[in-house]
Amino acid sequence: MSIRENKAEQQAIGAVPAIKENETRASEWGKHYPRQYDTYMQTRKSDEIGDVLKDDPAIVVLWAGYAFSKDYNKPRGHYYALEDNINTLRTGAPVDKKTGPQPTACWTCKSPDVPRLIKRDGEMEFFTGKWAKYGDEVVNPIGCGDCHDSKTMKLTLTREHLKRGLDAEGSLKVADITHQDMRSLVCAQCHAEYYFKKTEWEDKGEKKTAAVVTYPWAKGFSPEQIEQYYDGYGFTDWTHQLSKAPMLKAQHPDYETFVTGVHARNGLACADCHMPYMREGGVKYSSHKVGSPLDNIGNTCLNCHKGTEKEFKETVELKLARKNELARQATDILARAHLEAAKAWELGATEEEMKPALQDIRAGQWRWDYAVAGHGAFFHAPEETLRTLANAISKGQDARLKLRIVLAKHNAADYVAPDFSTKEKAQTLIGLDMPKLIEEKKTFLNTLKQEWFKESEAKGLYDPASRKDMVLKTSY
Ligand code: HEM
Ligand code: HEM
Ligand code: HEM
Ligand code: HEM
Ligand code: HEM
Ligand code: HEM
Ligand code: CA
Repeated sequence: MSIRENKAEQQAIGAVPAIKENETRASEWGKHYPRQYDTYMQTRKSDEIGDVLKDDPAIVVLWAGYAFSKDYNKPRGHYYALEDNINTLRTGAPVDKKTGPQPTACWTCKSPDVPRLIKRDGEMEFFTGKWAKYGDEVVNPIGCGDCHDSKTMKLTLTREHLKRGLDAEGSLKVADITHQDMRSLVCAQCHAEYYFKKTEWEDKGEKKTAAVVTYPWAKGFSPEQIEQYYDGYGFTDWTHQLSKAPMLKAQHPDYETFVTGVHARNGLACADCHMPYMREGGVKYSSHKVGSPLDNIGNTCLNCHKGTEKEFKETVELKLARKNELARQATDILARAHLEAAKAWELGATEEEMKPALQDIRAGQWRWDYAVAGHGAFFHAPEETLRTLANAISKGQDARLKLRIVLAKHNAADYVAPDFSTKEKAQTLIGLDMPKLIEEKKTFLNTLKQEWFKESEAKGLYDPASRKDMVLKTSY
């Protein structure tokens, strides 16, 4: 039976009312499409927290002065997208709708309630204000409404920031998108590098500033082209607390790196490996258990390749080990550069003396982050990933050479950076008061977070099935 007949069969199951426009509860869609829903719910099985800062404490130093230094984990299943966003120390501990630290934009890639709210309130209003403003409205994790049209079930793009990004980049204009492209582009709505573009607007005569999620693609997808885009107008995400370098943060450029790899060049889409076709009796459907393709090598890799599951696991592990080897060198070098720069400032180095080294730190750390922030890039695009890491190491070493000369001028040629070999040591070194941050967060989790779900339930938005057996898991 073809996939299309299968849809018809499922729609004919019975007198289930049609899915409402703007329906964000997956269990409602699931009444029509039980196989997709059941496999979608299995993303709950990927529930382990992988603490990146603990694995490589140098990263705490790289992000000093930025929220990522408090808490950063490997991704888990889509089921946890909202939960992790609410629980991370990065979103802090607001006490009402107006307290910080993050903007509303942090909800953008976590829930189908986001396109619903953008439709209701307009994009500018959505991107204005603090994250907590929408706590009682964004209550369902990534779901059907993020990728499908409820009337036709066709794949659809619900995020305007992707459409604008594609048209600005130009190699795949929105008007030319094919169905196979859509099987990657639904993912690219979230799995891509972004920044918050400050945008002035007027609301009934009142001046407001929105932080609009924007893809920096107008000059291309490569790390060098995106850097040029940011350098073009002196953009920085933050000023580094130790080195004072003007920093950039790369977030998961999965799509940008994937397109450079051998699988994309052979026409594969994300869904080919992350949502393989399954067979149940005579029925064929797409697995909605988006996760590691290595859990299902038989239905993914071995559709095209010859070999055994064991060989494919080993090949992927070897690629990961190669990436990790270079990534570790990059973080160690860059962390030392930040600490050496801090020492130089302390000894009275001038802006003029420091500037060239700080530019190298910015460029090196951007390259490292771009190469590793997409957790699958080591496989999707191994050559591009290793090339970018090699350049990160080279820029980091340039910075350290320049800093040695500055340190020598200030009589500290033999300066050795302090110990940052554990997450605790590194967080203490950059002055984070972790017990206080955790205490405040726990208060938030026991108060405002609880109220959000109660209020949204009263409004008929929240789907209890979406938090079935949810257990609190965090890095702290
Ligand atoms: C996590 C792939 C669509 C946002 C993940 C993971 C994979 C993945 C493999 C890690 C899962 C795990 O470790 O178990 C894909 C693919 C997509 C897609 C192939 C398209 C078919 C989306 C969309 C969004 C999104 C549309 C935003 C609405 C996220 C987030 C996480 C994640 C936020 C991390 C969740 C967490 O750790 O709490 N994705 N994704 N993804 N994805 Fe997607
Ligand atoms: C993963 C928070 C903005 C897309 C995550 C995770 C958290 C999180 C807690 C789970 C893993 C981790 O610890 O990083 C936030 C916050 C944001 C924000 C606080 C605002 C500052 C965004 C935006 C997008 C996005 C705007 C889409 C353009 C994703 C994706 C993942 C993810 C794709 C999976 C990442 C991976 O594979 O490592 N986010 N997010 N996030 N987020 Fe966000
Ligand atoms: C395909 C339902 C969530 C991406 C389908 C199909 C149905 C469906 C009925 C067509 C038949 C098939 O290929 O199995 C649902 C339901 C969802 C859901 C009920 C919520 C429980 C999502 C999400 C994404 C997504 C969150 C994106 C991250 C896709 C893709 C296909 C697909 C890429 C293959 C489309 C094709 O090649 O024709 N889904 N879906 N779906 N869905 Fe979903
Ligand atoms: C890993 C997303 C295309 C095979 C990942 C991860 C993400 C992701 C977020 C990290 C998962 C984690 O660490 O938990 C995407 C997106 C794609 C895409 C957005 C399209 C732009 C593909 C394709 C293939 C593939 C086409 C197969 C040829 C893999 C493999 C891993 C991976 C083997 C490593 C899994 C592991 O370490 O267990 N992908 N992917 N991906 N992806 Fe993809
Ligand atoms: C190439 C692994 C899934 C088609 C490769 C290569 C590896 C690999 C290691 C050599 C290139 C490199 O090192 O980057 C995997 C794994 C898969 C998977 C682990 C499952 C997660 C698929 C699927 C297809 C496919 C599903 C077809 C739909 C290809 C093609 C090439 C390739 C066409 C290029 C080979 C050539 O140019 O001769 N794959 N693959 N792969 N793969 Fe896959
Ligand atoms: C993969 C080129 C000879 C077997 C690949 C890939 C390229 C390639 C570009 C994709 C992986 C990548 O990008 O690294 C070539 C060239 C050859 C050659 C230029 C001649 C000089 C051969 C021969 C064999 C072979 C003689 C077999 C005896 C494979 C296999 C893969 C591969 C098994 C892994 C991908 C897969 O499983 O589909 N080759 N190749 N190649 N090649 Fe070759
Ligand atoms: Ca960024």
